Amino acid sequence: MEKDEIFSNRLSILGKLAASLIHEIRSPLSVIKMNLDYISMNDSKFSDDVLESINSCKESVTRMSYIISNFSSFARKVPKDDELVSINELTQVAVKVAQIEARMLGIQIECEFQENIPPIRICKDKLLQVFLNLIYNAIESKNKEKNIYIRTYLKEKHSLIWEIQDSGIGIEETARDKIFSEFYTNKEKGTGLGLNVCKSILDEYDAKIDFESQVNVGTKFFITFPIKD
Ligand SMILES: Nc1ncnc2c1ncn2[C@@H]1O[C@H](COP(=O)(O)OP(=O)(O)OP(=O)(O)O)[C@@H](O)[C@H]1O
Ligand SMILES: [Mg+2]
Repeated sequence: MEKDEIFSNRLSILGKLAASLIHEIRSPLSVIKMNLDYISMNDSKFSDDVLESINSCKESVTRMSYIISNFSSFARKVPKDDELVSINELTQVAVKVAQIEARMLGIQIECEFQENIPPIRICKDKLLQVFLNLIYNAIESKNKEKNIYIRTYLKEKHSLIWEIQDSGIGIEETARDKIFSEFYTNKEKGTGLGLNVCKSILDEYDAKIDFESQVNVGTKFFITFPIKD
């Protein structure tokens, strides 16, 4: 067999292994999450130390599920399960999930929503993943003013904007073309899949993602969703 062929065979086997590993990890992870939720329903029984440990376990589980979701979206095209989604409500769900990590860093996530935004037909889980990726990036940007702003508003009649603004380290002009590529990261523990997954999910819905950034001032990512009649 040619060297290239052996390599591509190995890659394909590795892809299949990764996909089955992701599948196998998912169920025990959700069992851990369910049990942690159950334990913390009786939180008045526990001391602050124990509660802190439970919350830290919950946060780690959330983080693991989020990494697994990114790998799984990257590895294969997840089927769409579209429904009418309120962007404001889904943003609130994402903020709730990311809040534990934000709070530990003293970061506040402020939402400024335009009311009466029409719902969008989209897959809730996929969009939640997009929002979480962008919120985690804002949290990890060494956001110095400790406030992250998420805004939703209608622009012209046919588009809806979702934007997130941090006051972190910013993105160098030279990295502009790289950040959406798979595996590009400048973080010690990053996988570099977050933005790549966001882009492929949004592409499926003709939504655009872009950003404005100034080094040491901050970054604003925005998504433009088309509003279809
Ligand atoms: N808000 C931001 N501020 C500064 N840099 C950012 C921001 N968002 C993205 N980046 C840059 O883009 C890179 C790619 O982001 P991406 O979300 O794809 O991967 P990651 O965050 O490094 O890893 P992962 O999302 O898998 O945990 C980041 O490593 C960082 O350099
Ligand atoms: Mg990221």
